[in-house]
Parts: sequence; structure tokens; C-alpha cells
Amino acid sequence: MNHAPVMTLDGPGGAGKGTLASALARELGWWLLDSGALYRLVGLVALRDGLDAGQPADCATAVAAARSLDMVFEPDRGAGQRVLLAGEDVTDIIRTDAVSDAASKWAVQPDIRAALLARQRDFAGMPGLIADGRDMGTVIFPEADLKLYITASAEERANRRFAQLSGANVDANLDRIYREILERDARDASREVAPLKPAADAHVIDTTGESVATSLEKVRCLVREKGWI
Ligand code: DC
Repeated sequence: MNHAPVMTLDGPGGAGKGTLASALARELGWWLLDSGALYRLVGLVALRDGLDAGQPADCATAVAAARSLDMVFEPDRGAGQRVLLAGEDVTDIIRTDAVSDAASKWAVQPDIRAALLARQRDFAGMPGLIADGRDMGTVIFPEADLKLYITASAEERANRRFAQLSGANVDANLDRIYREILERDARDASREVAPLKPAADAHVIDTTGESVATSLEKVRCLVREKGWI
């Protein structure tokens, strides 16, 4: 192979992409792009600076911030990676509901998506890249060597999020989580630029009712067919 291989994992939030992507990146020893984290960083900066997506001047400020994000992704001891913004560890803050909501709102802005495009492509490199997001196989890496679309029912995704928050002793309401998931899905799927949908050549994997080990084994089969393991 004379180019760095790219494998994309797209799909709605909570479907298990992140878990599968980081497990695969570790197993293969490849780079990992968590593109959602870039949108979350933009959401965090916008929240902190009080930027309003409905105001053109604020949009211009957010686009400039997206272009010059001072970010570092550091491998963590556990499953994921630590995210630093201008040296500050924002790993946990960017996962809060407030930042999730802001990220989803700013992600509908074409100028924000354009500002992050080249930064995402820069993650590609030897020995390979696992790219996790919504438009990895459709927009950012249309020539990817292997494309997956990971999905799960909204109920299942709400239950997983509820279990995760309860496990972390965070007060959570299952009904509210479920409603927010439906709202975010609708926003991600209906936006004009890079809406959430499987690439025509993506393998669709539904993780509803499946353990991580089972889903991972399905993905490994496809990776084996490519001769990467
Ligand atoms: O995957 P995530 O939940 O961390 O993503 C956060 C938000 O960013 C979510 O609303 C979808 C959006 N996003 C996007 O529009 N395009 C991507 N490639 C990744 C995430």
C-alpha cells in the first residue's frame, strides 16, 4: 500500500463508535481522530465567550477560533485520550450536556465545518488512521479504504448514556436523555451540510442489544479481510 490507510466510523452519538474506534486504534497501533471532540472544543470556546450562532459577528469569531484551535490529544492510561485546549485539560468538560448541545448547534454552520476540514485531514498518516464522526466516510475521507456506519436504536443509546451517568453518580433522567437524543439526531440528520447518513459504500453495523466484544469482533472480521491484522 503506497498511501496511509484510513478507516472511517460514522453514526449517531451513543452507538458505540468511540469505544470501537479507540479499541481498534490501540489494536492496530494507528492514529485516532475523534472528530466530535473538535466540534465540542468549538462549542466550549463559544460557550465560554458567550458567542451566539445567530449573530454574524459571533459566527466570524467562532470560525476564527475553529481555525486556530490550540488542541492536543494525548493517549490516556484508560480507553480514551485526554483533550487539551491551550494546555488546559478539558476532557471531562467537553462531555457535559451543555457542551454537547453547543457542539451540535455550531456543527450545523457550514463555515465552522469548512474551518475544521483541513485540520481533520491532517490526522491521516502512517501506519494508518481510524476516523470517528458523522461525515468521515462521506465528506472528510471519501476515498477511505474501509467505511463503517455504526448505529443503535435511540432507546438503547439513551439507556447506555443513563447507565454511564448513573455509574459516575451524576443525577440523570432517562426520559430527558431520550428526548435530547432524538432532538440531536434530527438536527444532525437534517442539516444541509454533511448530514448524518451512511456513505453509499459503508458497512452498516447495528449494535443494539450487542456487547462491545461482539461488535468489535464484527469489525475485526472486516479489518482482517483488508489484511490489516
Ligand atoms: O460524536 P460526538 O457526540 O462527540 O459529536 C459532538 C457533536 O458534533 C454532535 O452534535 C455531532 C457533531 N459532529 C459533526 O457534526 N461531525 C462530526 N464529524 C463529528 C461530530
